[in-house]
Amino acid sequence: MSQKINGVKGMNDLLPGEIEVWQFVESTARTLFGRFGYGEVRTPMVEDTALFVRSVGEETDIVGKEMYTFEDKGGRSLSLRPEGTAPAARAYIEHSVSNQEPVSRWFYMGPMFRYERMKTGRYRQFYQIGAEAYGAKEPAQDAELMDVVVQFLEALGLTDVTLNINSLGDDNCRPAYHAKLVEYLNAHREELCADCQQRLERNPLRVLDCKNEKCQAVAAAGPNVLEFLCEPCRAHFTDLQRKLGVLGIKYVVNHRLVRGLDYYTRTVFEFIASHPALGTASTVGGGGRYDKMMKGLGGPDVPAVGFAMGLDRLVLLLKEGGKTFTPRPDLFIAVADEGSQDAGLALASRLRREGLKVDFDTRGGSLKSQMKRADKSGARFTLVLGEQERQSGQAKLKPMAGGEPIPVALDSVAATVRAQPEAPAAAPAS
Ligand code: HAM
Repeated sequence: MSQKINGVKGMNDLLPGEIEVWQFVESTARTLFGRFGYGEVRTPMVEDTALFVRSVGEETDIVGKEMYTFEDKGGRSLSLRPEGTAPAARAYIEHSVSNQEPVSRWFYMGPMFRYERMKTGRYRQFYQIGAEAYGAKEPAQDAELMDVVVQFLEALGLTDVTLNINSLGDDNCRPAYHAKLVEYLNAHREELCADCQQRLERNPLRVLDCKNEKCQAVAAAGPNVLEFLCEPCRAHFTDLQRKLGVLGIKYVVNHRLVRGLDYYTRTVFEFIASHPALGTASTVGGGGRYDKMMKGLGGPDVPAVGFAMGLDRLVLLLKEGGKTFTPRPDLFIAVADEGSQDAGLALASRLRREGLKVDFDTRGGSLKSQMKRADKSGARFTLVLGEQERQSGQAKLKPMAGGEPIPVALDSVAATVRAQPEAPAAAPAS
């Protein structure tokens, strides 16, 4: 026997039965983001490696340790995208969008790739739904963006999620905070992991999001970034909080929130769920402002703010909710005899054209076995088609949740099914 080939570790298959939850999240996002004026952008899954080095940052875990980087046949260094913000910014610059419209709102959804240690809610191919707003530096834009996430989570029925916010300051005030942080971390150098001892030299902020417990303990007692904000950054952060109040959005100020990417200035935020299903992967989404990134990538001086939600994690939470997302068939057509098989096939085809979701057992077989399958399918009604029904043009719709059969003319099945009020779904037999 040939040896079986398995999928790549950390990369999951999504099969019918589960995919409906994903589709629900995706379609909810499309509808809601559309209401806020966000248009969809699709960028390639592979980019020039330099794009991520120059935006996400060389010293981050994402670029330093987790990227899938390879050389193509032309000798170029390419990487599977680990996130969507830098590719969207690259496209924004490349297509000179800022010349066409002063403020642009984009969203995207799709797979991202990070070579991470796997656990529940953390995968090597995972999916993000993200949004980016370009061209507005005002706190109202940050607040509006957080409102998108809040309304998105509401629409999904996910309420047990806390918004954490912080400000990381800007080029004006961050150096003083850096200096204080380096001084503090140097005093605790021996307690830090080997990686962080190096980060301390090159990018001290990254020590704050090291996953090592000892480093986290040191970071927790470190200087508070908010105490170092310059007046404009403080005013921006204060006004953001006021605007969140105007929108009735609840939040917690968390001065330890730094995020794992280098491009942020001022506002950063994370949405954290408190559900055991996620284990330690409790951050369902995060984002922030990145007013300097466009220029750093050779583009115009355009401020921006955005977020990305982890679709895998949202799906885990929704599956815990126990709701079913798979639409059940309206009708199961069973045939009473072999001679009715073609008529059954044709009737199913016609009803699908008329808009019904119809299940039909192409294998035929005994009526008993077809009825078992009808039970399992979870269909609302079953219609048995035999010689008598074909001759008379009349049949019966059997409600699978119980109740009296409903007489129906074969040429008005779709209308009759539609006219029946929806009863609670019959539990499919296991
Ligand atoms: P991030 O925090 O790296 O931010 O990722 C956003 C979300 O993606 C996380 O909160 C998490 O839910 C999900 N996620 C990240 N890594 C994994 C993984 N290995 N497995 C499953 N889910 C994961 C960004 O990527 C930024 N681009 C967000 C942003 C947009 N900032 C500004 N604009």
